[in-house]
Amino acid sequence: MFDTMTMTKAVGAVCGSLLVLMLAGWAADGLYTVGGGGHGAEGEITQAYSIDTGAEEAPAEEAEAIDVAALMASADAAAGETVFRKCQACHKLDGTDGVGPHLNGIVGRNHAAVAGYAYSDAMAARSAEPWSHEALFAFLENPKRDMPGTKMAFAGLPSPDERANLIAFLEANP
Ligand code: HEC
Repeated sequence: MFDTMTMTKAVGAVCGSLLVLMLAGWAADGLYTVGGGGHGAEGEITQAYSIDTGAEEAPAEEAEAIDVAALMASADAAAGETVFRKCQACHKLDGTDGVGPHLNGIVGRNHAAVAGYAYSDAMAARSAEPWSHEALFAFLENPKRDMPGTKMAFAGLPSPDERANLIAFLEANP
């Protein structure tokens, strides 16, 4: 049978061990996070650097990849006429609409500006914005990603050169 004193000692011993474990845990945490020149700390610092540079480089490359103005300066409108064949199932350049609205004067024209054409809500929502080179560039790369909700069912033109040539062709056909 345990008497009160034995119980007290037993509880005291358990609490004491728990306290030691907690303190040891804190001490270990402190060593790892504060560093202080141990091997573990060096390892962590090296890792942190490799993660940082990886995260910084990837978006930078994407952002630098396309200089629209430079591409437009060297674009080939004649080559763009060939690219436009991919659009002709839906778009015309004679002022009449097909599945899509006509594209006369599209460069500089506002979004959703053809009267009588039933645009999607997504396109109509941007009717105050002109179709700049940059806007066409982004839209034509991947219409549904650039404008979720557009009803233009076209996968897109991944090649920046093709897009530049096509935009130059459209610009030459007001
Ligand atoms: C399968 C048919 C289809 C093809 C192919 C297609 N489009 Fe479209 N396009 C549409 C439709 C439909 C719309 C209207 C989109 C909306 O309202 O969301 C549209 C809208 C547009 C607009 C916006 C017009 C405006 O008045 O704001 C541009 C610019 C455009 N297309 C360019 C192109 C180009 C360039 C190509 C070829 C690379 C192309 N499209 C291929 C169907 C097509």
